[in-house]
Amino acid sequence: MSEPVGRDDLERLLRAAQEGIAHAYAPYSGFPVGAAVLTVAGEVFAGCNVENAAYPLGLCAEAAALGSMVSTVGHRRLRAALVLIARPARAWPCGGCRQRLQEFMEAQAMVYAAGLGLEPVGVPFAQLLPWAFGGQDLAEPMT
Ligand code: THU
Repeated sequence: MSEPVGRDDLERLLRAAQEGIAHAYAPYSGFPVGAAVLTVAGEVFAGCNVENAAYPLGLCAEAAALGSMVSTVGHRRLRAALVLIARPARAWPCGGCRQRLQEFMEAQAMVYAAGLGLEPVGVPFAQLLPWAFGGQDLAEPMT
């Protein structure tokens, strides 16, 4: 069963995503994004989108947050992730970032979307990426 994240942890995630979005580099889209991830051990890591004049090379905020986690403490299981946009609306992780999150999230981990002045809304990860491809698919089949 998925358990929503407690109020304190949700606020930690939101604050981290706010710090992230403050550093967003989005001169081409004008769409700053902040993201934060919460490990099962309670650590929080933030990221922001980092665009590039060669558009496809731009990095999503979730990818930056995951990179921050792995490069700081190594790979961890995630309890939750939060995506914050700078508008009074909510946006959910793009398809590529759902796959990136799947590397570190179980089906019951929570993903939150938050926007300016809006309460975060959360869904279990399995709802965002059912039938996900993952490391288990690379394992050798039993003979
Ligand atoms: N973006 C993210 O950072 N995360 C997402 O999940 C969706 C999109 C960024 C990429 C680009 O810099 C901008 O939002 C507009 O697509």
